[in-house]
Amino acid sequence: MSDDPILSKLDNHVAIVTLNRPKVLNALNIELMDQLIQALEGHDADPNVRCIVIHGAGNRAFAAGADIGDMAEASVVDMYERNNLARWGRIKSVRTPIIAAVSGFCLGGGCELAMLCDMIVASETARFGQPEINIGVIPGAGGTQRMTRAIGKARAMEMILTGRFMTAREAFDAGLLTRVVPAEVYLEEAVHLAKEIAERPPIAVRIAKDTINKAFETPLSEGIEYERKAFYMLFDTEDQKEGMKAFMEKRKPQYKGK
Ligand code: CAA
Repeated sequence: MSDDPILSKLDNHVAIVTLNRPKVLNALNIELMDQLIQALEGHDADPNVRCIVIHGAGNRAFAAGADIGDMAEASVVDMYERNNLARWGRIKSVRTPIIAAVSGFCLGGGCELAMLCDMIVASETARFGQPEINIGVIPGAGGTQRMTRAIGKARAMEMILTGRFMTAREAFDAGLLTRVVPAEVYLEEAVHLAKEIAERPPIAVRIAKDTINKAFETPLSEGIEYERKAFYMLFDTEDQKEGMKAFMEKRKPQYKGK
């Protein structure tokens, strides 16, 4: 297998991206994150790609966090000038849906990366946590905000203040995950879900993702108005005409992403 920290391949309309540092449980160093962001932006610009799956190489981890070796001796000025975590925000601008396929440890920055994705499909073996408190810091890539929104204040407080890991079942029950599946099929199931999404009209899919994400940023009345305008806008796509015509003609629609 290649030593590149990020590997990418295409399976029809689905891009499968691998975090590839299995010896260090796919710890997210600067090089890996830079290549990941480039890969995601590249797939986003490719009209052939309709959904992206990210998973970790090896079975032990999705990612065990940001690379502690990169930060252990850093000063405030080093951290401020590198500003690495701000670059992670570019992942949020990717319009193509992203599914995190998680097996094993999904910790710290790894959990934050999974929460930056749109859905998480987890193996029964997955463990989720924000253990930064145990190394003298707090989550720095959105964990305090996204975990709180996903599982609520009471549980987020416990997870982040103690650094405890959650099982996949517990994370699912708390609302962090889309699905929990047997370990042997976690990637297959994530790719299957991605393929289901890839069969849908791509512009409507991207606009649905954008509109759902608005719910986290706006008051309800503004979000509803945003949704209504997005709904009207889709009536200028060929795929809307095709989708409704196919329904009337009782046949399967052929979507073109136009
Ligand atoms: N950074 C760098 N290296 C890491 C790492 C990390 N986050 N996590 C694991 N590794 C390395 C270990 O150093 C070890 O390398 P060596 O074989 O060269 O010693 C290798 O991966 C295997 O790990 P362990 O031997 O520790 O495996 P284990 O099964 O005993 O424990 C673990 C697994 C519980 C996940 C443990 O590795 C661990 O606690 N990792 C750190 C988790 C963590 O604190 N993550 C948060 C990082 S900070 C962060 O993410 C900030 C942010 O918000 C952006």
